[in-house]
Amino acid sequence: MNCNIRPLISEDEPFLWEMLYEALHVSEWQSAPPREVVRLPEFARYVQGWGRKGDCGFLASDAATGRPVGAVWLRFLVGGNKGYGYVDDDTPELSIAVLPEYRGQGVGTQLLIHLFASACGQSSISLSVWADNSALRLYERFRFEVVSESDGSLTMKRS
Ligand SMILES: CC(C)(COP(=O)(O)OP(=O)(O)OC[C@H]1O[C@@H](n2cnc3c(N)ncnc32)[C@H](O)[C@@H]1OP(=O)(O)O)[C@@H](O)C(=O)NCCC(=O)NCCS
Repeated sequence: MNCNIRPLISEDEPFLWEMLYEALHVSEWQSAPPREVVRLPEFARYVQGWGRKGDCGFLASDAATGRPVGAVWLRFLVGGNKGYGYVDDDTPELSIAVLPEYRGQGVGTQLLIHLFASACGQSSISLSVWADNSALRLYERFRFEVVSESDGSLTMKRS
């Protein structure tokens, strides 16, 4: 798909809430959770107050319509606020999502290419993914490696 990619700015926070909802992987056999689920503190911390020190990411929009369709973002969740994909205090955690109707058309791949070529410039990045999420193959293609596993959830790291 033809998309434009630009760095995320603090004004993109409303779209990131939408992307956070999409990133909460819903198994096909489960009904979708309510939209408000993203406001639970354990999830909200990935987006709340976007634009603070260390935040970095990219937004993809449909080149034909200008509609935002996906985002990838990094945030440090450390100290007493460790994220699901925590590995150490120097490693930000990656979140990514694409609107359902735009998936499987290369948008996620383009977002990750931009991220890794960008000034986000992190020497390591981690993430958390369910072992049955097909996004796992995408992460492996970008050289993320599994560093731990717990109850079907994998923590992956790219150095
Ligand atoms: C994961 C995701 C961001 C990838 O973006 P995308 O634009 O669909 O990805 P691309 O088209 O560039 O690459 C295709 C790869 O994405 C993954 N993918 C494709 N459709 C997917 C879907 N519906 N759900 C999860 N992953 C998917 C697969 O790894 C696929 O590779 P494969 O064809 O070898 O299986 C996107 O599919 C998505 O938002 N999924 C739901 C949210 C999610 O799972 N986020 C990650 C949480 S850890």
